[in-house]
Amino acid sequence: MSDALVVIKNLSNTYRTRAYGVFGRELMQPVLDHITLEIGRGEIFGLVGESGCGKTSLGNSILGLIAYEGDIIIDGLRQNRRGRLSRSKALARKVQAVFQDPGAALNPAKTIRWLLEEPLRIHGIGTKQERIARVDAMLHRIGLDPGYKTRRVYELSGGQKQRVCIGCALMLEPQFIVADEAVSSLDVSVGAQILNLFQELHQSLGLGMLFISHNLQVVYYMCHRIGVMYKGQIVELGTAQGVYFHPAHPYTRILLDPACEPAGSDTPVQGPPWAGLYRQEGCGFVERCPRKRADCGKNAPGLVNIAPSGEAPHQVRCALFQDGIPMQGPSKSGRELAV
Ligand SMILES: Nc1ncnc2c1ncn2[C@@H]1O[C@H](COP(=O)(O)OP(=O)(O)OP(=O)(O)O)[C@@H](O)[C@H]1O
Ligand SMILES: [Mg+2]
Repeated sequence: MSDALVVIKNLSNTYRTRAYGVFGRELMQPVLDHITLEIGRGEIFGLVGESGCGKTSLGNSILGLIAYEGDIIIDGLRQNRRGRLSRSKALARKVQAVFQDPGAALNPAKTIRWLLEEPLRIHGIGTKQERIARVDAMLHRIGLDPGYKTRRVYELSGGQKQRVCIGCALMLEPQFIVADEAVSSLDVSVGAQILNLFQELHQSLGLGMLFISHNLQVVYYMCHRIGVMYKGQIVELGTAQGVYFHPAHPYTRILLDPACEPAGSDTPVQGPPWAGLYRQEGCGFVERCPRKRADCGKNAPGLVNIAPSGEAPHQVRCALFQDGIPMQGPSKSGRELAV
């Protein structure tokens, strides 16, 4: 992609933990495994995968909140890899975050006006009057009545709190937002309002987004492209349409429809879910794969493009597609059965 805003090259990330409390042996827990990805300007990129596969770790790496190996370049600026407190103000103005729990993200002691004004104060933007005018404009943009600015966080509903979080993230006019499970804690109708707000902001401001979610239908509705993550690796990457309606990787097919048994296989899905460490050898999904072959435990497959020539890329990391065989028409998937 030529006009990429976020370029991720060979991103790996390892957490240091201890086996038994503070006196236990130190363990290195690898989480992200050489991720290479580009997200375009104004693109909404969806990231899905089961709990613990590393989605938040990828988002936090982009936000510069954790240390990592590899490179992350945002709008031409290379991020400092040491993580924590290394984030420059220039990068903070380009990339902001909206997290799952809006209550935990907002200071309960402060008024909504103070919270919305805070990013401008930190970055020394505008006079007091200008900042207040921008807070009023933001309240309008996020669909909150001006009267809310004197309220405190406990006086708002969950959906209103999330709107304030989105407002805080937008105050610096970023080009990109990491939305990590931003609607998961909200009920369906309020969640839908927040999704519509994201869509509206994307259309009016050209806002790009890393949209992390467990809900594949929401990701399909929101995103231009979808990346499917398993054990810290991207195992499938393509347009929302391609991944949702023509999933190729056995894991994506199971994720889309756990009851779906891939064609030609009557072996049920077996094996342990993500146990924290990714495999060092072979395909990471081999223990659970209903379509595994004899050599899948030995050879680690790379990402190959399976889209017919002339169509948008659709990449899959699976031995079944290693020769780059183009997909033959729509694949038989749970999606098609369900639609
Ligand atoms: N600060 C940390 N220290 C040690 N291990 C961590 C830390 N943060 C996350 N992990 C581990 O890294 C792995 C990936 O975590 P991450 O939060 O990125 O997953 P996730 O895909 O966002 O999961 P979920 O969908 O449940 O939010 C997990 O096994 C988790 O236990
Ligand atoms: Mg997470």
